[in-house]
Amino acid sequence: MKRYFEAEKGNRTHWDELAEVHAESYDYEELIKGGHVLDAIQTGEVGEVRNRSLLHLQCHIGTDTLSWARLGADVTGVDISPVSLREAQKLAAKAGLTARFIESSVYDLAGKLDGTFDIVYTSIGVLCWLSDLKAWARIIRKYLKPGGFFYLMESHPFMHVFDDESDGLNVRYPYFPGEAPMEWPADYPDYSDSDYIVKSPSWEWQWSISDILNALIENGLKIDFFHEHSVIPWKALPCMIKDDNGFWRLPEGMDNLPLMFSLRAH
Ligand SMILES: C[S@@+](CC[C@H](N)C(=O)[O-])C[C@H]1O[C@@H](n2cnc3c(N)ncnc32)[C@H](O)[C@@H]1O
Repeated sequence: MKRYFEAEKGNRTHWDELAEVHAESYDYEELIKGGHVLDAIQTGEVGEVRNRSLLHLQCHIGTDTLSWARLGADVTGVDISPVSLREAQKLAAKAGLTARFIESSVYDLAGKLDGTFDIVYTSIGVLCWLSDLKAWARIIRKYLKPGGFFYLMESHPFMHVFDDESDGLNVRYPYFPGEAPMEWPADYPDYSDSDYIVKSPSWEWQWSISDILNALIENGLKIDFFHEHSVIPWKALPCMIKDDNGFWRLPEGMDNLPLMFSLRAH
């Protein structure tokens, strides 16, 4: 697998642009009020984090990082986007929480961060920004303490084959990826603030389930569990409906499909 430096630079610009939009539109009121914004799937699967060190890869504006801090973890968030981290710092101050944030591409972290962690964590909307999953898995292994674990919750690659601009389930994209990224031109509504039209393009990679699992396995990680879920935290397809827990799901009759997966490895 190779690294695409130009695409990475373009994606940093893209996320710098969106960070300020998300600082206005993400729902993190609970965090300010003394609670957290993590869903029950993640808190249940990750378990007790009190007094444990947690490294959050691709932390964006820090809403999840700070939620783990609220639950008692000693947190370090990493992201390539300086504007995202600036917003994360502001949010930490508003929520009265302590966190360390490091600006780095996942691949360059070894030169910027020492030590090992009880938990390495990353979730939702992260893998599509990575061109090299093997290098990603090496970083995870490097930062895991013996006895620690890695946790990932992510949208299911199967769901990404469907057309996100038409109603119903219409296959539009390949499941098995090519090596080159797919370029998304700008001028579409942001997923968090649909009134905001995204100005900068982005470059994304589609990974199959086997790509993800094999990258971890080949780097010596042992999978403790792999779960598939029929819900997702945002309206990924036009036909989705919101359930009582705040998750989105497919309408009755077609709701028996995987939309997210989660895994833990050590
Ligand atoms: C969808 S967001 C993170 C997901 C998080 N669950 C959220 O919604 O707040 C994706 C993040 O990945 C970051 N990112 C993209 N490529 C990266 C890279 N190579 N190294 C580190 N961070 C990267 C972006 O800057 C962005 O903040």
